[in-house]
Amino acid sequence: HTLNPTTIEYSSLSILGISSNGIIDFITNNVTSDSVDRTIETLLCDAENMKKGWSKDGNVARIVLKNGEFLCPGFVDTHTHAPQFPNLARGQQYELMDWLKCVTFPAEERLKDTEYASVLYKEVVRRVLAFGPTTCCYYGSLHLEATKALADECHSAGQRAFVGKCNMDRHSSETYVEPSPLHSIQATEALIKYIHTLSPLPTSSPLVHPIITPRFAISCSDELLKSLGSLASKHPQMAIQTHISENAKEISFTKELFPSAPHYAGVYDMYGLLRKGTVLGHACHLSEEEIQLVKQRDAGIAHCPTSNFNIRSGMARVGCYLDRGIKVGLGTDCSGGYAPSILRTIQDACITSKILSLTPTISSQFTSGLEGKHLPISTLLHLATLGGASVCCLEDKIGNFVVGKEFDALVASVPGAGGEGRFGGGGNPGVWYQENDTLETLVERFMFGGDDRNIKDVYVCGRKVSGWGQ
Ligand code: GUN
Ligand code: ZN
Repeated sequence: HTLNPTTIEYSSLSILGISSNGIIDFITNNVTSDSVDRTIETLLCDAENMKKGWSKDGNVARIVLKNGEFLCPGFVDTHTHAPQFPNLARGQQYELMDWLKCVTFPAEERLKDTEYASVLYKEVVRRVLAFGPTTCCYYGSLHLEATKALADECHSAGQRAFVGKCNMDRHSSETYVEPSPLHSIQATEALIKYIHTLSPLPTSSPLVHPIITPRFAISCSDELLKSLGSLASKHPQMAIQTHISENAKEISFTKELFPSAPHYAGVYDMYGLLRKGTVLGHACHLSEEEIQLVKQRDAGIAHCPTSNFNIRSGMARVGCYLDRGIKVGLGTDCSGGYAPSILRTIQDACITSKILSLTPTISSQFTSGLEGKHLPISTLLHLATLGGASVCCLEDKIGNFVVGKEFDALVASVPGAGGEGRFGGGGNPGVWYQENDTLETLVERFMFGGDDRNIKDVYVCGRKVSGWGQ
């Protein structure tokens, strides 16, 4: 029996998994009541791989879970903007279009300085990992060299990532816009080539992937969208990310710019950019026809509720999308969102669904689906993990702890009263586990009271990439 440290060979006690229908699958439901530390024996070191340059410490030999701890599949952040991190938690007085012009584009323009990019992106990736996304879909700026630096940082930190150079040849400022569609395409092709040269980990397929990134329809000329469509057809498996139907003014401007398209989703479809592997950010105001088209094309949705509240865009009907079988994941959308925190995004996704449930449609009151209801914990956890993995077409590799998948995981920690240090463990005073908590309660506490301090260790493909645990 050969042991491979990166994939799940078998599942033992105390592992939280989520089955494909979003139901929490408790392999054991008696995790917190025994006082003995539990050793997770899913992974063992393999000398062969250590020889290939994996440090002994970097590999998971065994994970010991203390009381109040459990293993959670790694989070997937399906939508964030690396160059906007210096803007986190500011500029929140604007709505989308003014926000882009007044605070966002000026911040992104700074990435023309590649040295600044390297320093910033190292910090961004380190911080994102600390919040638990083992996979992250990043928008870069317009700049090729800076975006290469972002891919480098993901690669060296060991994060699973999709990295895209933004395409934008109009409706920005004079100094932050690409000079021509040709320039935009050539830089995108160069980035794709570059990312493909980044060597994968010895035991796995590549962790860092290129992603075609038309910013949104407004910022791309007809010619640029056409060229991006043909680039996409040359790479039929490649992921694509963009924004859709986020804000009312944005939607009406898009309709003005593309009068021949039936609707916003139809614009991307017209150019061959709506397909399996397309990640649509926001989707707050999709019409019935658009919902059907997104489903038909098998595209996925990045639900970004914190940002949707912050820049007052709207509320996405995630229950409806899930009822229709559309793939949905969560996006922090920094810096539209306040922080790179998927836990916070879970909380805001929950609140979004609760607000929507206050005014349910007539039909949703008589159906058993999720539309118009507040989303259950299992669905919220699904969005943060396996849902996001499916949006990225990685559901065969990650998203839960099915045997044979790669080991992307968090050690979630909700220490009990007392303990070492300030409030024990990571020191979040707002949440602690109580004697006789079931795993289900513990998961709930983590999801609604937790933050980065409750994410003890982070593993990607069996390798520890972040954490404060010993
Ligand atoms: N639409 C186009 N660009 C952006 C962006 O950077 N953030 C958000 N939230 N929406 C956008
Ligand atoms: Zn965005």
